[in-house]
Amino acid sequence: MILVTGGAGFIGSNFILDWCRSSDEQVINIDKLTYAGNLMNLSSLKDSPQHKFFNVEIGNSNQVSKILKKYKPRAVINFAAESHVDRSIHGPRDFIYTNIIGTYELLEAVNSYWANLQDSQKADFKFMHISTDEVYGSLLPEDSSFTEKNQYKPNSPYSASKASSDHLVRAFNKTYQLPTITTNCSNNYGPFQFPEKLIPLTINNIIHNKKIPVYGDGMQVRDWLYVNDHCDALRLILSDGSIGEIYNIGGLNEKTNIDVITMICNKMDDIQFKKDIPSINLIQHVKDRAGHDTRYSIDISKVSKTLDWKPKETFESGIDKTIKWYLDNQNWVDSVSTGEYVKWMKKNYSELL
Ligand code: NAD
Ligand code: TYD
Repeated sequence: MILVTGGAGFIGSNFILDWCRSSDEQVINIDKLTYAGNLMNLSSLKDSPQHKFFNVEIGNSNQVSKILKKYKPRAVINFAAESHVDRSIHGPRDFIYTNIIGTYELLEAVNSYWANLQDSQKADFKFMHISTDEVYGSLLPEDSSFTEKNQYKPNSPYSASKASSDHLVRAFNKTYQLPTITTNCSNNYGPFQFPEKLIPLTINNIIHNKKIPVYGDGMQVRDWLYVNDHCDALRLILSDGSIGEIYNIGGLNEKTNIDVITMICNKMDDIQFKKDIPSINLIQHVKDRAGHDTRYSIDISKVSKTLDWKPKETFESGIDKTIKWYLDNQNWVDSVSTGEYVKWMKKNYSELL
């Protein structure tokens, strides 16, 4: 059995769905169900004994300890976080609370659970912490990609809170020998991403003929990673990664924001046979994000050399799948962006509320 935190969010739910497709092992999912956490993502597992959900926050170490004691997972994978940079700029408090204090409380609960395991279970246990490339700060066009040895230079309240959590994880490994692994990945995209992030927001705004806001000149670069490639890497690192190590995971797909948006506009016009007004006319340059990082780029040498992993999707293939998913699942987008999700929860999971 494994325990996942934040498993109702974008990456966590994709990870659980992939896990249940590729293994029989049970998954415990603990999630606070913030605006970004939706059990609808996991509705295909609603009646499956393989997935068990608890509406618990990582900062509640008493409840987390009880769940750990009862289910005795062999690994904990921590996805739970506040994850949107713009929200962190407008209100950092939740980010400090969940990403720093929450991770600390989770580490305390996991560490005392682990310390009391029998020797053989203790030796097999892993705590995997999912982090971001944003902790390394911003690159200039001529700079080398981020390696695991880059200095931490976070620029937003989000990345500073994730950097703090990474340091706490490292400290629990060095001080108490808690068997931890940290992964730092680049921007993910794919099904179930909340439509506040660039790619789903662009797709959704084109569907609804709404303006597409481009921060500043749109020349900022992100290294896009298809979410299922990320999940493959995480499963591999969980099984074969070395304790105490950090692994950078990237998509080998560096693109400017304006190129990403233009590509989505053109593809959607082709799919929707939209010939009259091209979707690129929806692009609207707006005020730049405060402290906007200009470029992220990941060097995946370590994970590819030591664990033989590389991403399978090209940006072209990943974006095609993503556009198709959003076109086929407009109900999901509408539900998570309006109050419909709450009604759905009351109907299907009234016992949890
Ligand atoms: P998300 O915002 O979609 O999901 C986060 C999940 O965590 C939600 O289900 C939310 O309800 C839950 N959560 C929030 N606070 C909680 C708390 N206190 N206790 C329990 N659950 C809580 O985020 P995501 O995009 O799936 O990201 C998952 C992880 O991956 C995060 O740690 C994020 O920092 C990291 N990451 C994301 C990206 C990306 O591009 N999305 C890139 C790099 C790293
Ligand atoms: P985002 O998806 O928020 O991820 P992150 O900030 O973690 O990289 O944004 C990706 C890039 O797109 C980032 O450079 C900010 C930019 N962006 C826009 O230009 N317009 C938007 O409406 C959003 C949400 C993001």
